[in-house]
Amino acid sequence: MSRKGDVIRIKTPAQLDGCRAAGRKAAEVLRLMCDAARPGVSTKALDDFARDAMSSLGCRSADFGYCNYPAQTCISVNEAVIHGIPRQDLVLREGDLVSIDITVEYEGFVGDNAHTVVVGGGDGEGSLFVERTEEALRAGIAAARAGNRVGDISHAVEVVANKYRFGVVREYVGHGCGIDMHEAPEIPNYGPSGRGPVLKPGMVLCIEPMFTLGSRRIKVLPDGWTVVTADGRRACHEEQMLAVTESGDPEILTPRLR
Ligand code: MF3
Ligand code: CO
Ligand code: CO
Repeated sequence: MSRKGDVIRIKTPAQLDGCRAAGRKAAEVLRLMCDAARPGVSTKALDDFARDAMSSLGCRSADFGYCNYPAQTCISVNEAVIHGIPRQDLVLREGDLVSIDITVEYEGFVGDNAHTVVVGGGDGEGSLFVERTEEALRAGIAAARAGNRVGDISHAVEVVANKYRFGVVREYVGHGCGIDMHEAPEIPNYGPSGRGPVLKPGMVLCIEPMFTLGSRRIKVLPDGWTVVTADGRRACHEEQMLAVTESGDPEILTPRLR
């Protein structure tokens, strides 16, 4: 969901500081949310918890009101891939695969990250699915180096998906971030390497593999937001925000906290 064709912003050092601070807040809220995703808790209760957590951390949801999005967070359970609207009647059970996507605004900057947890610690298949999606995310991150192209990230993610025969959702993509939630470029989770815009130091990117255990086909629920797999199989979503650096490895702006 970025604006194709827009110029890709190169953040100034001061803007990178802002992105760093917002990313850190987003990571902190995500950590708290993942810990709170326990059996018996509704996704609405989790969303309420996020509002409190954000307010104690001095940030606020960037999701709420975005294109009229009605909640603080996106919580997508099992066959839901992304953009799950929290619901009172959706109560987490042991073994549920819960993708939590947190986007915050802090002092004028945006931090965006997501993680999938298995409620209650997990069945084998769910945990393996999460680990392998994280592997794809790491591969994408490793490709986010100055001089590479956006397609190198896309391809690196897709290679891992193919290795495990996951479905790769195509309708939604990663994106630039930091000043607006969605900036150029779009970063698909598939496609050839060596194509697309050249990565430059100061670019801030969200890489976010969205994988399925069956077909990659998706549909949007009548609520207008929740994206689910067409075949009802489970999905996994992992996201981190990073800055492309002058030399070497990207800087993770949403560090995974424990
Ligand atoms: N966090 C999402 C992303 O990764 C966007 C949230 S959509 C909203 O791009 F409607 F909830 F804001
Ligand atoms: Co997100
Ligand atoms: Co994102």
